[in-house]
Formats: sequence, C-alpha cells, structure tokens
Amino acid sequence: MGFSMKKEFSLLGIFSFIFLILNSSEGNFAQTKKNESSSVPLVMYDFLGGLMSLQPYMVSSQKFSDPRNSEKIEKYLFDLSSQTKRLSHSQRLNTATFQVSAELLQSHLAKVQDLFIQGRKEYARKMLNATMDGCSSCHAQVPAENNSMWKFRANEIKGNDFEKAEFLFALRHYDEALQYYDKAISNYHPKHDEFSYLETALKRKLAIYIRAKQSPKLAVESFKNDLHNKKWKAALKSEVSGWVSALNKITPQKNPSVSAKDLGNFASNVIPPLLTAQAQFKPGSYVLFLYVSGLIYQFINTHKQAELTPELFYWLAVCDIHLSQSYFFSLADLYLKECIKRFPSSPVAEKCYAELESTTLDSYTGSSGIHMPEEVKKELKTYKSMLKQTL
Ligand code: HEC
Repeated sequence: MGFSMKKEFSLLGIFSFIFLILNSSEGNFAQTKKNESSSVPLVMYDFLGGLMSLQPYMVSSQKFSDPRNSEKIEKYLFDLSSQTKRLSHSQRLNTATFQVSAELLQSHLAKVQDLFIQGRKEYARKMLNATMDGCSSCHAQVPAENNSMWKFRANEIKGNDFEKAEFLFALRHYDEALQYYDKAISNYHPKHDEFSYLETALKRKLAIYIRAKQSPKLAVESFKNDLHNKKWKAALKSEVSGWVSALNKITPQKNPSVSAKDLGNFASNVIPPLLTAQAQFKPGSYVLFLYVSGLIYQFINTHKQAELTPELFYWLAVCDIHLSQSYFFSLADLYLKECIKRFPSSPVAEKCYAELESTTLDSYTGSSGIHMPEEVKKELKTYKSMLKQTL
C-alpha cells in the first residue's frame, strides 16, 4: 500500500512537470502549420462512401455470403482497396505513423479481396470488419476538437447498438458513437451478450475521451455513471474504478510543444514502472499507455521527420503492445521496424531489435515449442544486420 501511494505521488509530480513545459511555448509548430496540415484528406470521403455501401453486408454473415450479392461486394472491395493506394499521396498523411497505418491497411484490404474471391467469405467478412481498426489506428492519433459537421440519419447504419457504435467510431463520428456505446453498455446483459462487447465498448470510450476529446474530466463523469450498473460484477467495477482514479490524475494535453527529447524522457519516466509483472495489468496502467502514446502520436504528426527520435518509436511500440486488442492490426512490430530502419546506429535501435525479436519469438511459441517460419527468421536477420555495431 505504502509503496503504491508513493509511486502515485511521484507520477503526479511528473504530470505537473510536463504540464508546465507543454504550456510554456506559445505559437507552436502545430498552430503555425495549421492550414497546410489540418484539413481532412479527400480520400476519406471516398472511404466513407465505400464503407457505407459495405456496411449492411459487414454486419450480416448471411447477406455477405449470399451468392446474389457476390458481384456487388467484390466491386465494393475492389474500390475500397484501390482507394487505399491514394493514402500515400496525401500531404497531411505523410508522417511516419500515418504511413505505417496506411501501408498496413493497404495490405490488409488486398488480403480481404483475395479471401473473398477464393470464396472464404466468413473469414473475409471478419477481416473486413477488422479493417475498421485500421481506420481507427490513424484516427485515434488525431484530437477531434469539434463535433462532426454532419450526422448520420437514423437507420442509415445497420446492426445492433454495439455494431453501430463500432462503425461510427471507425468513421471518427465520436459523439454519435458514444451514444451507441452508452446504450450498448447500459443494456448489456451477461446472459445474452458476449463480455468482450462490453469490454471493447468501455475501452473505446476511454480512447475517445483521452485521445480525441482530450478530456479526462468527461471520461470520469461518464464512467461514474456506468459504475451505477447493478448487473456488473465486482471485477469489472474495480477495473473501471481503477481507470477513474488514474484519469483523475492526468491533465489534458493540447498540442504538445515539448522537444522530442523531453517527451522521450517523460515516457521513460512514466512507462517502465508500468511494465512490472504486478503493474502491467493494473487498470491505471492502461490509461497511462493510452495517454502517453497519444502525446507521442501528436508530436510525430505535427513535427518534421528530422525532429523525430528512436525513443519515440520504441515507446509507441511498448504502449501498443499493451493496448492493442486487434489480432490483425498490431502496430508494435511496425514501429520497432521503423525505429531500426530510421536510426540503425542508435543504441535505442538495439533495444528496438531486442523487443522485436522477443515479441516475434513469443508469437510463434506454442505448447510444443517455437515454430518460426523460414521467412520470418530471415526477416529478423535482415533487421539485425541493419544495426550498426558501434564497437
Ligand atoms: C493514414 C491514416 C488514415 C487512415 C488509414 C484512415 N484515415 Fe480517415 N482520416 C485521417 C485523418 C488525418 C483525418 C482528418 C481528421 C481531422 O482533422 O479531423 C481523417 C478523417 C476521416 C473522415 C472525416 C470525419 C469527419 O466527418 O470529420 C472520415 C469519414 C474518414 N476519415 C474515414 C476513414 C475510413 C472509413 C477509413 C478506413 C477505411 C479511414 N478513414 C482510414 C487519417 C486516416
């Protein structure tokens, strides 16, 4: 008890420190570059159209696999997949972390198309639904200052409350998404609904409030309301209460105008204590992983490539390992690879490689030992050879 009190106290100290440095420089880069870098990339509106056409099929395995819809769906998939190629041409999206997501989305949609054509329709449908995690992996990097300019009409989106919320979340319509998540959360019934729905809905809310709305205060209000739910088990209550107390300790950060070095130092103060076996799965740690990675994303997306440091990629990867729920959209490995490719002679690149090697080993380790495919071994070797040994 005494120990954790002390740790919380020192975290608080770090937060007020970063709050001070963040507020000390006015007229920062993000603001002066506003016109160039803040408009919605045009390809997004095509994405919107593309996903809207697919949405009724995405939520129904019957419609999705019906041979009568095959031709239509194939065309929609083809269009969506071609649109992703335009992601690499947008100036706004030309930042390190946007490009990582863009490339992943491209290869993901190519796979969905292949699976569909091969007739593996249910798998293709699941993968297509996971595409929305690819959209969100970019969108959750950008604060959403205003409500969306327009709203969906009632019944325009199909599915249950949770499915509607997920779709709206992927499209960055956060206020509408929150309404459906709240409905799904309050109507959740352990007998009829999967627990994973509830858990995801709660985690999405957390992400919206911390990353997009940057308002720990609104998050606290909303979760306090959820905590009245009589159907919740004690374990869930204690998880969400843990979030609330962590949220009470963080300050919202608009436009982090610190240097990469200060941000890196901040992360290396806050994150390592969260990685101990005891702390990793504490609810408060989840909040901090979301918070710190949000600051790093904002930094990367509003600064020149030359200002980036390997630490930023390393800490992003570490956060992503603890945050990612998606089987298909794990970005951690990709950030570690960026760290090595961009900074091969930095000692941090060695840390990035060590982490890459150990997560790769883990993912191929089963009850009967390690089964790493040849091409994966080869890829690891390539990254290892990029490191410039400083003897
Ligand atoms: C490479 C990064 C990236 C990917 C991938 C991405 N987006 Fe976006 N998207 C953005 C950015 C940046 C914005 C602008 C955010 C802002 O300034 O408010 C945006 C905005 C949008 C908007 C405008 C929301 C509004 O009404 O204000 C829609 C709709 C959208 N994206 C749909 C999609 C869909 C659907 C996908 C997935 C198929 C997707 N995006 C994938 C980066 C991305």
